[in-house]
Amino acid sequence: MANIKLGVLVSGSGTNLQAIIDAQERQGLTAQIAVVISNKQDAYALVRAEKHDMPGVFINHKNYATREEFETKLISELDSRAVDLICLAGFMRVLTPLFVNRYPNRILNIHPALLPAAKGLYGEHVHQYIIDSGAKFSGCTVHFVTVDVDGGPIIVQKVVEVKDNDTPHSLAERVLEQEHIAYPEAIRLIADNKIEIQGNRVKIKTESH
Ligand code: GRF
Repeated sequence: MANIKLGVLVSGSGTNLQAIIDAQERQGLTAQIAVVISNKQDAYALVRAEKHDMPGVFINHKNYATREEFETKLISELDSRAVDLICLAGFMRVLTPLFVNRYPNRILNIHPALLPAAKGLYGEHVHQYIIDSGAKFSGCTVHFVTVDVDGGPIIVQKVVEVKDNDTPHSLAERVLEQEHIAYPEAIRLIADNKIEIQGNRVKIKTESH
């Protein structure tokens, strides 16, 4: 089967992007990055794309009067490269129904907790919330994006223990290590046609005999 084409949307450091690049280059991912799009010009993620000879595009959301106009530009960039699957990897813009409904079951996001925990929170707020909650475990979640923020079908989760002396920073670091495993795993499942979506549940297909 031909590789599926990925569009990765970023705003920052791009360590998850790096994990996808590494999986593509080293582990024979059946998917390849067609474009990396950042809404921040100085995002280190764009440097990572350049280092690996992948097209990187800066689209400044501040140049557009509305979210929808910005998203229309994103759509034209993604569609011009025939992207099959869109991966949000630290992309710090909430997407409107215009964008989300255009790509049903074709947008992934990674959340640095075990959804539905810390739904709607982002960054260190997530880890502070988990620590304050007294939860013994956190982790990360790769899920499909729907108009319900952080509410779409869950594809992969990885668990991380919360330690008594954890700070949001220390917990974030251990969660991030698991994110780098979870994101390529979720992409691989989709690219290899191993999943089936039933309502809000993603079933992993077992081998047929
Ligand atoms: C990750 O923690 C991810 O869960 C969240 O944003 C962060 C992005 O990190 N959505 P990076 O830019 O991939 O290093």
